[in-house]
Amino acid sequence: MKNLSNKEVIETLEWRYATKKFDPTKKINEETWSTLEKALVLTPSSYGLQPWKFIIVQDMPLREKLKAASWGQSQVTDCSHHVVFVIKEKLDEAHITKFIEQTAKVRNQDITTLEGYKKMMIGDLVNGPRSEVIAEWAARQAYIALGNFMTTAAVVGVDTCPFEGIDPVKYDEILGLTGTGWKTVCACPAGYRASDDKYAEAKKVRFDMKDLIVHK
Ligand SMILES: Cc1cc2nc3c(=O)[nH]c(=O)nc-3n(C[C@H](O)[C@H](O)[C@H](O)COP(=O)(O)O)c2cc1C
Repeated sequence: MKNLSNKEVIETLEWRYATKKFDPTKKINEETWSTLEKALVLTPSSYGLQPWKFIIVQDMPLREKLKAASWGQSQVTDCSHHVVFVIKEKLDEAHITKFIEQTAKVRNQDITTLEGYKKMMIGDLVNGPRSEVIAEWAARQAYIALGNFMTTAAVVGVDTCPFEGIDPVKYDEILGLTGTGWKTVCACPAGYRASDDKYAEAKKVRFDMKDLIVHK
C-alpha cells in the first residue's frame, strides 16, 4: 500500500472545508462514488455491529423536500449526492444474529464458536442498561461514518458539508422511515465546490494545538 506523505495528508485536510455552495453542474462519476460508498461500508463500529443505513438521495423532487427540512440550505439540491445517515432505534436479537451469521460466513467459521460473543453482545446492548440509550450509542457510530466519509471524499477530491442543521423528524417522514425503527441522525451533501464559494478560501478557525493536544 502506498501511503500519502505527511505533507499530502495535511494539505488534504486543509483542502476540505464545509462547502456552502456546490456547483450544480458537476456530478461525481460512478467510479468515485462507488469508492465513497465503500468508505461508508468500511467504517468501523462498536463490536462491528453497523447499526446504520446510508440513504443516498439523487431524486430532485425528494431533495427539494429535504432542503425545506434542512433550514433551506442550498447544498441539498446543488450537490451531486445527498447522503442521509440513519440509525436503528433499538438493537434487537435479530440484528445481532444476522451479524454473527455474516461473521461465520465471511470468515468461514463454525457459528457455534461465536455463541459466547453473541450472548455477550445481547447481554450488553439488548438486555443490559445500555439498551436504554441505544439510539444515542448508534448515533455515535453514525458520526464516525460521517467523519470517515468526509475524509475519504477529500482524499479523492470530492467536497462535502456535514449537516446537523436538519429536522430529523421531517427527514424521517419524507424518506418514509417513520414507524420503521430507523431514524435520521445527520446528513452530508457531496459534490464539487462552486468557483465563487468564498468559504473555500477562508482560514480555518481552530484553537491552538497546545490547548487541544495534551501530552503526558
Ligand atoms: C456535526 C456537524 C454538523 C454541522 N452542521 C452544519 C450545517 O447544518 N450546515 C453547514 O453549513 N455547516 C455545518 N457544519 C459545518 C461546521 O460549521 C464546520 O465544519 C466548522 O465550522 C469547521 O469548518 P471547516 O469544516 O470548514 O473546517 C457542521 C459540522 C459538523 C461537524
